[in-house]
Amino acid sequence: MSADIGLIGLAVMGENLVLNMEKNGFVVAVFNRTLSKVDDFVNGRAKGLKVIGTHSLEEFVSKLKKPRRVMVMVRAGDAVDKIIEMLLPLLSKGDIIIDGGNSYFEDTTRRTKELEAKGMMFVGAGVSGGEEGALNGPSIMPGGTKGAWKEIGPIFQAIAAKVKEGVPCCEWVGDGGAGHYVKMVHNGHEYSCCQAIAEAYWVMKEGLGMSNEEMSGVFSEWNLGKLESYLIEITAQILSKKDEQGTYVIDYILDKAGQKGTGKWTVMSALELGVPVTLVSEAVFARCLSYQKEDRVFASNIFTGPREPFKVDQKQFLNDLHDSLYASFLVSCAQCFVLMGAAGSRYKWDIDYAAVAHMWRGGCIIRSSYLENIFQAFQLNPALSNLMFDHFFSSEIQKCSPGWRRVVAATSKSGVAIPVISSGLSYYDGLRAASGPANLIQAQRDYFGAHTYERLDRNAGQYFHTDWTGHGGSTHSQAYNI
Ligand code: 6PG
Repeated sequence: MSADIGLIGLAVMGENLVLNMEKNGFVVAVFNRTLSKVDDFVNGRAKGLKVIGTHSLEEFVSKLKKPRRVMVMVRAGDAVDKIIEMLLPLLSKGDIIIDGGNSYFEDTTRRTKELEAKGMMFVGAGVSGGEEGALNGPSIMPGGTKGAWKEIGPIFQAIAAKVKEGVPCCEWVGDGGAGHYVKMVHNGHEYSCCQAIAEAYWVMKEGLGMSNEEMSGVFSEWNLGKLESYLIEITAQILSKKDEQGTYVIDYILDKAGQKGTGKWTVMSALELGVPVTLVSEAVFARCLSYQKEDRVFASNIFTGPREPFKVDQKQFLNDLHDSLYASFLVSCAQCFVLMGAAGSRYKWDIDYAAVAHMWRGGCIIRSSYLENIFQAFQLNPALSNLMFDHFFSSEIQKCSPGWRRVVAATSKSGVAIPVISSGLSYYDGLRAASGPANLIQAQRDYFGAHTYERLDRNAGQYFHTDWTGHGGSTHSQAYNI
């Protein structure tokens, strides 16, 4: 029996992907650095299945059909390079290595080039959906050597989640690091959604004094409407979960949020490309602040400002909170698509944004009903520069705006921090302001550093300098922008 594909790295995601492939009719060879894991797996969860356990990389490679397809599910970073280095002498031209971890897209671009130079193919495939998704249908975002797609596409599309009439949530994304880039941005949006939901939870708890069961009920109800999404669904379940002693689990989880880097990379890339992804950045920084637990405890004793329940009509306020959460999801998603658009241009990836929205409709962590609207928006206009300009988005956000403002106002008055929800509103107001205060920034820059400015009454591209103090020189710095 020879294997259609091989997988290295039998942690939970790796194991589940193998079982998913096997279930879909593929023979899979497996290898793991700690060999006992291979034996445990083939004699345990994979017992009696078309899974070939191997005990050396040589044996692993020898079991694979040509061109060999090797999927690597190890921790992002050096471990991926090490595995590639060990595999290279054993593989031949035309073979394919697929990295299914959350690798940094620049690493994937580099690895693709290095392997292509050796006549091999490399694919960086973002895989989303956690353990459950890996087993029953993840969203898969592959990019790298285009030639690999016809060899791996049938396997990936078979194991991916399906939406609508069985359309798989897996399409070829683009060259180099495009697949991992799209997965990185998926995770960035995941950060803003998680944080925005956490903010709504905190508003209900601190501001409205609601119990876990009540909050769980609200999230369950929201999941039946426009907010329908995996993250809202699991939040409802989390809030009502009790342990064996009958205690709510949520109440004893330490309020320090971890992160593995994909949100940070999204923000780094956004800074590099000059695209505001303000909700993701607030979400990343909120995790950083959450981690400074000791400082927060200390500060809470110094800054004893407002910390009081809201004086609002609960039912009305919950509607407002719903709208502010929904608008935040939409704005974050719009920003993320603008970012992918900028990255697509910068790195010359021919990304099909409707296909990205489609891949995110099922299987992945950010799956939600509004992704269907995003899919339709890009189908209607593939060159849409900002989803906020799509009719669905603009009308939904405008409808949410009054409630969104009431939530931001009430939380600010009562001293409850909602950085993602409030920065979403600031972005919206900034975007819809045809004139803004940046003229003053230009004046300040010109005052202290002769950085020059453009004028409203002159053509763009002409730069002017004012001698603000009357004793400045006539030299000014060159006008350039990063
Ligand atoms: C997914 C998830 C997955 C993982 C995150 C968690 O799409 O299945 O995004 O990739 O859960 O990487 O990231 P943090 O540890 O940074 O929250």
